[in-house]
Amino acid sequence: MNTESSNEKSQGTSQIEALAAKRIRHTRVNEVMTELDTLIYPGSQDSILLVCGPSGAGKTTLARHMVDAAIRRAHGELEAKRGIIPAIYTEAPSSGENDFSWRLFYQRILAQLDDDADSPKLVYGIDPESGRMNRSRAINRGTTLAALRTAVERGLRARQVQFLVIDEAAHIIRQTHGRNRLEIQLDTLKSLANLCGTQMVLIGSYDLYNLVSLSGQLARRIHVVHFERYRQDRPEDAQAFARCVSGFEKTLPELWGGKLTRHTKALHENTLGCIGTLSGVLVRAARLASMTNAWTTASLQRAFLTRAQHNRILEEILDGEAGIGPNLMYSADEFQLAS
Ligand SMILES: Nc1ncnc2c1ncn2[C@@H]1O[C@H](COP(=O)(O)OP(=O)(O)OP(=O)(O)O)[C@@H](O)[C@H]1O
Ligand SMILES: [Mg+2]
Repeated sequence: MNTESSNEKSQGTSQIEALAAKRIRHTRVNEVMTELDTLIYPGSQDSILLVCGPSGAGKTTLARHMVDAAIRRAHGELEAKRGIIPAIYTEAPSSGENDFSWRLFYQRILAQLDDDADSPKLVYGIDPESGRMNRSRAINRGTTLAALRTAVERGLRARQVQFLVIDEAAHIIRQTHGRNRLEIQLDTLKSLANLCGTQMVLIGSYDLYNLVSLSGQLARRIHVVHFERYRQDRPEDAQAFARCVSGFEKTLPELWGGKLTRHTKALHENTLGCIGTLSGVLVRAARLASMTNAWTTASLQRAFLTRAQHNRILEEILDGEAGIGPNLMYSADEFQLAS
């Protein structure tokens, strides 16, 4: 390969990397973040917040962004806030066992609580010298489930964790058999929230929504946030989706040559209005184009979700929306709310 073509190739690769790394702050993200920001505050009664939406909507990206933003904000504040971890992101483990593994779950949280070298001084369970969680007391002393749970409670309180994001929270449901057991699992989270003043933000697809109907006592404590796709039948959604396509086009103007936005309707149809899926399709299209050094409509078509993928995702979305849509909010006339 001569130097010129190898330079072109590495330039192409870095362009695709830039496209893959691009994060668009779109309408739905703003709506969901605003709702969560409003409901996450000390003393809130909403101990569990449920964020559900279709696969590829961008839920994980949003959750990570919220946690990073909370940490950045706290670190930008007073010196007194050193050692505080305002938010933690974790994934509900899928252990391969029949039962949900609280052990693994607690270990994951402890690993993060222990990660930050700065810490509030003179706090029980935190070594003032090293600024780290006191392993001998909090972690290594006992590995029973009860000891792990106690260490997590201590850590969450000591680090003043305001909210704990549990991504892929549907793993908790899938690995739990029987309604009663599931209620116990949720109660475990609720009591962790209440004891530590840490709100639990559960993220997942529509099957998470089933948690709401578990029990009256729990239902009262769960607030549901719907991270919806952009629907083609709503003009404001179609416009917001079009702005995202345009945002992606501006990231790599030379590659798309101003011809991407003319495919907005097809992209909306194929990706079902999910921005994560749109990003995946465009990155794939850019890679396919880089093989031939030319972007064509054909490379976009080849990058699209196949009919089978599209139909499967659509089925899940329609099922989920049918479950959540009419139940999420009352219309004003049902309660005879004054306008
Ligand atoms: N706002 C955004 N701007 C650009 N790219 C995004 C955005 N949100 C998500 N993506 C991209 O889409 C991919 C999928 O998004 P993400 O994993 O957040 O979706 P998800 O809703 O969590 O999906 P799943 O239900 O499968 O877990 C991410 O890897 C990311 O690269
Ligand atoms: Mg995800």
